[in-house]
Amino acid sequence: MNIIVTGGAGFIGSNFVRMVLDESKDTFIVNLDKLTYAGNLGNLDGYIDNKNHKFIKGDICDGPLVEKLIDDYKINAIINFAAESHVDRSLVEPGVFIDTNVTGTLTLLKAALEKDIDRFVQISTDEVYGSLGEKGMFTEETPVSPNSPYSASKAAADHLVRSFGHSWGLKYNITRCSNNYGQYQFPEKMIPLMINNALNDKDLPIYGDGLYVRDWLYVYDHCAAVWKVLTEAKPGTTYNIGGNNEKTNLEVVNLILDRLGKDNSLIKHVKDRPGHDRRYAIDSSKIMAELGWKPTVTFEEGIVSTIDWYLNNKKWLDTVVSGEYQKYYKSMYSGR
Ligand code: NAD
Ligand code: DAU
Repeated sequence: MNIIVTGGAGFIGSNFVRMVLDESKDTFIVNLDKLTYAGNLGNLDGYIDNKNHKFIKGDICDGPLVEKLIDDYKINAIINFAAESHVDRSLVEPGVFIDTNVTGTLTLLKAALEKDIDRFVQISTDEVYGSLGEKGMFTEETPVSPNSPYSASKAAADHLVRSFGHSWGLKYNITRCSNNYGQYQFPEKMIPLMINNALNDKDLPIYGDGLYVRDWLYVYDHCAAVWKVLTEAKPGTTYNIGGNNEKTNLEVVNLILDRLGKDNSLIKHVKDRPGHDRRYAIDSSKIMAELGWKPTVTFEEGIVSTIDWYLNNKKWLDTVVSGEYQKYYKSMYSGR
């Protein structure tokens, strides 16, 4: 099978590319990535020159490029990981979220339809469902009700994907996962940001009361689920993918501090994120029943191996937090 993986130099995309290259010897990957601030060829160290991998620096909004890649590499499927993915950035500058997440997805869909490819897998998010109260879980039937410009752009993309299936018979799947964590995550997201700050004895900025809840999913388990969807799911289906690991942000940060042997006096409560979703929790029973997937890594195991990965990959971490990241950090956090 020949597949285009978009966003394959980002956090989840690069973990997916490495997993597939390790585990499927008859899959050829064309990795299409614009290399924004979040994309990094260092995430593919040791895999760039794999005989089953071709990296193309390019934009998913470039229709002629996407069509040429489909022709040149006889592509059977597209898995769309590429996105602007950070909620806080979407609250500062939403425009680029519409460009990549909506127009980019539309461009890929048009090319997929034009070239009659066998499958389009859209990597979406549980954030399209909005926020939960203290009880309940998101199922695939939960109405879509996004609260941030990021989640609104992802919901718009999901609707476009579905509409291409409904109107023209495009064979698609949509996956909606909870918060991923693991190796190679850019330290704008909560877990790697807190690890990096704690390692440098910098304050850990907890938004609001810190009692917001996320359902943490180890990135490898997520990638395994996406592979199952690509290879086993019926077209036209949507699957929720969750880790069954609900934690408050304070619980997560305290685990990080314990592992690193740092004092919790580093924790600083700062001004909250506007419109902050209180709680996410995913009901994954559909993918478990229909495709036999289940999460294999508990949060307690996954957070330890994630922290240890950052400790053992200081060079990667120091590179990604140099330059632009420092400006970003200052503008997002100073005086907060
Ligand atoms: P990321 O920000 O780490 O990586 C995104 C990648 O997309 C980067 O390599 C970037 O260079 C690339 N990209 C951005 N704009 C592009 C464009 N116009 N053309 C081509 N490439 C472009 O994101 P991530 O955390 O790996 O998330 C991957 C996908 O999973 C996203 O669609 C995101 O919405 C979704 N998702 C992420 C999480 C999570 O916890 N990280 C949870 C649910 C869903
Ligand atoms: O649920 C899936 C989503 O998870 C994905 O669709 C997004 O791409 C991904 O970024 C993530 O969104 P969140 O907003 O939940 O993740 P983030 O790591 O930004 O924040 C996790 C929680 O931690 C959230 O409640 C906000 C809080 N937080 C975050 C940062 C960066 C802090 O308290 N302090 C921080 O500095």
